Amino acid sequence: MKYKELEQKGFLDMDIDPSLDLFEEITKLKKEKNAVVLAHYYQEPDIQDIADYIGDSLGLAQQAAKTEAEIIVFAGVHFMAETAKILNPGKKVLLPDLKAGCSLSDSCPPALFKAFKDRHPNHLVISYINCSAGIKALSDIICTSSNAQLIVESLPKGQEIIFAPDKNLGGYINRKSDRNMLLWNGACMVHEIFSLEKITKLKQRHPEAKLIAHPECEEAVLRIADFIGSTTQLLKFAEKDDALVYIVATETGILHSIQQRAPGKTFIAAPPDNACACNNCPHMKLNTLEKLYLCMKYELPEITMDEKLRQAAGIPIERMLDLSRQLGLAG
Ligand code: 13P
Ligand code: SF4
Repeated sequence: MKYKELEQKGFLDMDIDPSLDLFEEITKLKKEKNAVVLAHYYQEPDIQDIADYIGDSLGLAQQAAKTEAEIIVFAGVHFMAETAKILNPGKKVLLPDLKAGCSLSDSCPPALFKAFKDRHPNHLVISYINCSAGIKALSDIICTSSNAQLIVESLPKGQEIIFAPDKNLGGYINRKSDRNMLLWNGACMVHEIFSLEKITKLKQRHPEAKLIAHPECEEAVLRIADFIGSTTQLLKFAEKDDALVYIVATETGILHSIQQRAPGKTFIAAPPDNACACNNCPHMKLNTLEKLYLCMKYELPEITMDEKLRQAAGIPIERMLDLSRQLGLAG
């Protein structure tokens, strides 16, 4: 049965026998189908616990590139599963909820970006991995938050560069690397919601706490951060660093893994600028353990894509993976 038909029958809300132990069932399905579950740190705790690998965007792309499993189940958002498919045209790549998108990726439509790029013919295009295959196909090299600085610095200083789609990450790299890249005006809806005022108040209440922040945050937050890095880098820092309390300015899903990796420490989620739970990514949180089980059972929804687009989008991703290998970078 096609996904559309299943969806019409209420596939995503299908009743699951409540007596089933989903951890056991998913573990069985992984073995039976030779499937690997790759999860991002922003996934709900149950999904992180059942995953074969949890990582940041670079680590996930690297795992997807080397896995020998026949089926890749991507517990993350669409651009991540799409990247796995680009790297594995012969494999089945599943995403528990096909609607799990990304506001940052959506902020950069390929047709508009192409017109922008055409106005700057001498610029190289570096795109953050949080973008669609259409944008990747228009890019010279892809980067993630863990390798963006090194990738930019691997290019000569005089090289003109367009950086898309995240203006916050691009601005941060411009300041760190003393560059003047042209920035696409995109941002992540989760990371731009943190309130500088509330973080400052939290810091006053917990003067011993260190602020650790993802580079997708706005400049004002990054300027007062004690450490800035990708999700994996934030985790590694908190594990090794000698402070006992941290304010964490990134999506709250990371708290599960960070608390496991540094059990004796206290982690406080940085507050958003209103009373909402906007530091939860609504896209990432569309995936649930139930949907993960159903998607593995029915092998749907599957990521499919046009072969020409896949090949074009693969070139800048492979460049990033090659460069990361040369630089000894792992996510
Ligand atoms: P990293 O996992 O690369 O830090 O990216 C964070 C993010 O926003 C993914 O959507
Ligand atoms: Fe996109 Fe932001 Fe959600 Fe990451 S956290 S998937 S960048 S909206």
